[in-house]
Amino acid sequence: MKLLPDTAIPTYLVESQREANEALALEISQLLGAQAGKATFGLATGSSPIGLYSELVRLHRAGALSLKDVATFNLDEYMGLTPDHPASYRAFMSEHLFAETDIDLAKTHFPPSDSSGLEAACTNWEGSIQAAEGIDWQLLGVGRNGHIGFNEPGSPFDSRTRRIELAESTREANARFFESMDEVPHYAVTMGVGTILEARRLRVLAFGDTKAHILERVLHGEDDKSIPLNALRGHPDAALYIDAAAAARIG
Ligand code: F6R
Repeated sequence: MKLLPDTAIPTYLVESQREANEALALEISQLLGAQAGKATFGLATGSSPIGLYSELVRLHRAGALSLKDVATFNLDEYMGLTPDHPASYRAFMSEHLFAETDIDLAKTHFPPSDSSGLEAACTNWEGSIQAAEGIDWQLLGVGRNGHIGFNEPGSPFDSRTRRIELAESTREANARFFESMDEVPHYAVTMGVGTILEARRLRVLAFGDTKAHILERVLHGEDDKSIPLNALRGHPDAALYIDAAAAARIG
């Protein structure tokens, strides 16, 4: 993997998704090793992290990784889906990571997704992150419009966990997880950009040509504060891992 020169956020060009996944799995193992197995992770869903989660499952099965003492906070959850809905992010995490490892489900957290009492529930959720002493290591994907979590373009960089209306392009990109476009929720609850920036390390995975345009705009463009990914420019320990297709316009 190679560190690209002159990018607005430190960016590694990887030879394969596998290379990125192995590098991040190693970082996670090292963090757990340094902290006696205890750490707080911020987790993402979608296509980007699936390979990393498989690698963590592989390491767990090989006896090389235990998640029993970790706490997790997922970035976002759709509103209006029950936790057992197959497209809910809790179901996604269960399928790709939780059910396949020794993680303690009582220490896994998802943003509130029920509309009643939402504001207070979001404040409580932020409080649970604080009570866990903040997030050590946050995984992110990036939307083709530059969103992080479900912070759509225009989200303030100091925003906190809240309800957000999903952009049509986001609903279209995520329709593949539903039976039809009509079923894709219009609203989600997301950690805010400000919440995400408080994590001590931020690691972003971006693969494939659908990410090439936004990566060019962010990594080689002006500091456009309407693009949430640009918020990472101000973070002391953020890095992107991108493949050749995603790097096609910045090569
Ligand atoms: C998912 C999330 C989103 C995705 C982004 C990229 O929890 O927070 O920001 O990371 O939409 O999605 P994929 O990886 O499917 O391209």
